[in-house]
Amino acid sequence: MNAIRSVVRGVGAYLPARMLTNADLALMVDTSDEWIVQRTGIRTRHIAADNEVTSDLALAAARAALADAGLGPGDIDLIVLATSTPDNTFPATAVSVQAGLGITHGAAFDLQAVCSGFVYALATADNFLKSGAYKRCLVIGAETFSRILDWSDRTTCVLFGDGAGAMVLEAMDGADGRGVLTTHLRSDGRHKNKLYVDGGVSSTRSVGFLRMEGREVFRHAVGMIADVITDAFDATGESAQTIDWFVPHQANRRIIDASAVKLGIAPEKVVITVDQHGNTSAASIPLALAAAHADGRIKKGDLVLLEAMGGGFTWGSALIRW
Ligand code: ACO
Repeated sequence: MNAIRSVVRGVGAYLPARMLTNADLALMVDTSDEWIVQRTGIRTRHIAADNEVTSDLALAAARAALADAGLGPGDIDLIVLATSTPDNTFPATAVSVQAGLGITHGAAFDLQAVCSGFVYALATADNFLKSGAYKRCLVIGAETFSRILDWSDRTTCVLFGDGAGAMVLEAMDGADGRGVLTTHLRSDGRHKNKLYVDGGVSSTRSVGFLRMEGREVFRHAVGMIADVITDAFDATGESAQTIDWFVPHQANRRIIDASAVKLGIAPEKVVITVDQHGNTSAASIPLALAAAHADGRIKKGDLVLLEAMGGGFTWGSALIRW
């Protein structure tokens, strides 16, 4: 068995300066702070400036993660960037980040699994590192969902926000029990029309807007999340009792709470940022990790459980000994 583990060296985040509150949204569509808070737990979200693109957010988060790790760009030989809102159709947003950091060696590519993107990127990076192919990876989730929202559709525009989070993972031999312990990825394309964007390069030659059957997403979410977390517990012998922190994809407070109850995870172990960030899709987990690391909750040696579910449907989990 391979002894190399992917160990977290640092995390970082970036949120655009502009904020959009529920009260601001109530001036744009027929909604209210009360409705949004009660159904989703969201109070405010950040929105990228007109001249900010996804790679700008990603680059700022990457720099913060490198600073947290005490490493420089030259130490990184792989960038895996999860996004559904790339700067351009091509090249990959990851290569803009690579160029922005001044890295000219190694590889950089994008990965698209909508809200599950960070867990998919983490699993991909983990496998590259464990195989010995690369030494240190920036795993990034970065989104400008504000660009694919129909701002006249109250059923979707209140739910999402922009932001980026990044993690530095390092391949270590003899990691002393630390590192990514297990990852589990799932998808089921039969649900692809329940949460999608109604445009695209090959179908409409346009970008399109996000469309969602909210109740259908909600109906499937908790069961899928519980299944894939059970897979992570079964693979490692860990449990709701032994984890220190549960850092779920921040889509909706009700989904998070129902998942924690179903799995028997104590409320004080759940990291919540959806109230402040809204749903930032692939960026939500690293943003939440960075927040809980920066305020001293997540510490070296802690057992951290991640999960996400999103368009496709895609879903996945990861357990990390920090
Ligand atoms: N403000 C006020 N009223 C609204 C709003 C709004 N922003 N949006 C919808 N409504 C109305 C509807 O029109 C409907 O009115 P009607 O009864 O007169 O027809 C009423 O509220 C109830 O609508 P529902 O869609 O049934 O409301 P629901 O309780 O299901 O809540 C929500 C909607 C919040 C979207 C919920 O279904 C949900 O959380 N779904 C999960 C979706 C999600 O989180 N997606 C994120 C992406 S996927 C992921 O990341 C996991």
